[in-house]
Amino acid sequence: MTPAESAPFTPGRLDRDAPFYIAGHRGLAGSAMWRLLEAEGFTNLIGRSSAELDLKDRAAVFAFFEQTRPRYVVLAAAKVGGIMANNTYPVDFLSENLQVQVNVIDAAIAVDVERLLFLGSSCIYPRLAPQPITENALLTGYLEPTNDAYAIAKIAGIFHIQAARRQFGKHWISAMPTNLYGPGDNFSPQGSHVLPALIQRYDNAVKSGATTVTNWGSGTPRREFMHVDDMAAAFLHLLEHYDSPEQVNVGTGQDSTIREIAKTIARVVGFTGDTLWDTDKPDGTPQKLLDVSKLADAGWSARIDLEDGVRSTVDWYHEHVATLRR
Ligand SMILES: NC(=O)c1ccc[n+]([C@@H]2O[C@H](COP(=O)([O-])OP(=O)(O)OC[C@H]3O[C@@H](n4cnc5c(N)ncnc54)[C@H](OP(=O)(O)O)[C@@H]3O)[C@@H](O)[C@H]2O)c1
Repeated sequence: MTPAESAPFTPGRLDRDAPFYIAGHRGLAGSAMWRLLEAEGFTNLIGRSSAELDLKDRAAVFAFFEQTRPRYVVLAAAKVGGIMANNTYPVDFLSENLQVQVNVIDAAIAVDVERLLFLGSSCIYPRLAPQPITENALLTGYLEPTNDAYAIAKIAGIFHIQAARRQFGKHWISAMPTNLYGPGDNFSPQGSHVLPALIQRYDNAVKSGATTVTNWGSGTPRREFMHVDDMAAAFLHLLEHYDSPEQVNVGTGQDSTIREIAKTIARVVGFTGDTLWDTDKPDGTPQKLLDVSKLADAGWSARIDLEDGVRSTVDWYHEHVATLRR
């Protein structure tokens, strides 16, 4: 431990009136964080859309931090996309994400932000990491090649946080959420997240009166999904209770087969027809589940079960279908 890290610090309740910047506050993760903080009585939340403040613009980011002087920051802004986009535009995913996070973290150092949480993703772990994936699997093997550029940017972010702790004594942390879903999700075809795609498919079938729905693959791969409101609650808990250089996995600790997930969605939207599985299409990795022991040791575990979570997401989808991002 270096002198910078040795100053005594115990995380505690965040000041509800302190300036709190949520980078990416209109996105799936950032908007959930904003909702939770509002509900928790935070009175000084700060958000800027990418049109108002492009986080790739280093001078503008430094000027914004100088002007607003946030005491707390959640860094949930990122260029995010599905497999296809990640695989086709690796330079964009590497370069834009590095720029956004380097600018925000450096500007936060410059104005001495007290607590900062950096959001990564479970894609930082090796493709063949043993399941469930523990935090110490980081850098033990090759990444999934279809999104390695994005993953490398996120790994650099974890190291940037650790470096700020070492060099400047910052009590900043990194959290790696599993697959997220919920209000604010990306229902665009390019977004291609599994859960919103399935909701849209089954809902369209109900509306059109179709009697069958065909999904890609065998439906047997197991995936973990966490409702974003749970993610936000976990983040606030970590900010108030956790202080360590190692990233923390944020998940439910439970996975389901894609078939089970499809069945839940069909039930919630009221689809009574048959589901077919196109086994000519690829399945992807058989299981992806985070080990959440560290999060549990920090005193938090997920509360929203899949059926309730899907129901609230479908309700949100119905309310917003006309204005969804495309
Ligand atoms: N979604 C998941 O399943 C999932 C799972 C694990 C981890 N994560 C992590 O969570 C973070 C956020 O993901 P998300 O799903 O919430 O993504 P999202 O819904 O696409 O939101 C990303 C946000 O980032 C902002 N942004 C992007 N580039 C920016 C720029 N140059 N300047 C300013 N703002 C910019 C966007 O702002 P505007 O809307 O104003 O353009 C957008 O609101 C990412 O780090 C991702 O790795 C997501």
